[in-house]
Amino acid sequence: MIQINQNYTKLPGNYLFADISRKISLYQQRHPDKPLIRLGIGDVTRPLAPAIISQLHQAVDEQAETATFKGYGPEQGYAFLREKIAKDYQNRCGVKIQADEIFVSDGSKCDTGNFGELFADDTKVAVCDPVYPVYVDSNAMAGRAGTYNQKTGRWSQLNYLPCLEDNDFLPQIPGPAEPVPDLIYLCFPNNPTGAMAGRELLEDWVAYAREHGSLILYDAAYAAFIREDLPLSIFEIEGARSCAVEFCSFSKLAGFTGIRLGYAVIPDELAFQGVQLNALWSRRQTTKFNGACCLAQSAGAAVFSEAGQQQIKDAIRYYQENADLMIQALSEMGFKLSGGVNAPYIWLKTPDNMPSWDFFDLLLNEAGVVGTPGSGFGPCGEGYFRLTAFGTHEHTAQAIDRIKQSFGQ
Ligand code: MLT
Repeated sequence: MIQINQNYTKLPGNYLFADISRKISLYQQRHPDKPLIRLGIGDVTRPLAPAIISQLHQAVDEQAETATFKGYGPEQGYAFLREKIAKDYQNRCGVKIQADEIFVSDGSKCDTGNFGELFADDTKVAVCDPVYPVYVDSNAMAGRAGTYNQKTGRWSQLNYLPCLEDNDFLPQIPGPAEPVPDLIYLCFPNNPTGAMAGRELLEDWVAYAREHGSLILYDAAYAAFIREDLPLSIFEIEGARSCAVEFCSFSKLAGFTGIRLGYAVIPDELAFQGVQLNALWSRRQTTKFNGACCLAQSAGAAVFSEAGQQQIKDAIRYYQENADLMIQALSEMGFKLSGGVNAPYIWLKTPDNMPSWDFFDLLLNEAGVVGTPGSGFGPCGEGYFRLTAFGTHEHTAQAIDRIKQSFGQ
């Protein structure tokens, strides 16, 4: 008889954003005449940049000619793209990465969700709380998280790093008496809190990982939003090459949430028990993945052209203007908030400690604005609410007006 993978049956409810979509659909069925403003899931709204569109058209036309048609490509990604990414690391953050340390994929959600496959079942995992749910759920699916406690909202075998107001929403290094994790998931700029780690904290994490033989899985999907003088990559930190993997995405960098493109950087020297992770990931990818779509990879290369760089920067500035507007208007309304400066997410304290889902319902029903309840990212997110800066200017301004009206201002 077929036996279901019981790890899946232990997962609580639905994936966070699927739950929110269901609530939205229900609301829309009941109120078909009330248009919603969606500042929930971090999906972009600017169209693709002209340089990218023009490259996409060319790539499509190439598929129509025998001489230029592309079938299966290298599972790790085309050299033309990997070389551009390597050069970009050098230009952007002065970091030397070889093209063969880069693995192109269909996005960093898949990479961060799949990477845990390389490690044994009893690997100890640390995650921030609140956290991007993919890190937690994918480890739970692998049977590494133990059991889920509905009351506490925590998995018995995960090591949580609380990110709270009094530590500026940043994960602190475990003390000498605390358990040592094998895998440490870090995401900066952070989803969901919008917090950004300083160089010193990242140096401390790298030193900790090296001392304890741990691996940092560093999600840099939002690096393009860093405005202050802060590390754009974990590899800016000395020693990181021997204890970290970095995941990057074209989604928020260049609006590829629909096109799908990302990459993982796995330094050559990164090895555990004498096994090179780079070679292991290559073995995994060549077996389970046939490479990112060739059209997406061509479009990705255009991101690094001179025009592409200028145009994607314009789009990022557009979203940063939304973030600035939200920070100013919501602060004036008396909301306590953080994030939004080096990240596209605003992390709002709910008024009067209202539970996150109650605030979600209130905002949905009173203002017709959708955000993401902080508790959906973990127990330390309770009493918080995430708004994204990825809306259009028009919708962001309208959302602010509606929130003002709902809160009687
Ligand atoms: C989010 O809203 O947290 C992100 O858009 C989800 C994702 O990138 O998968």
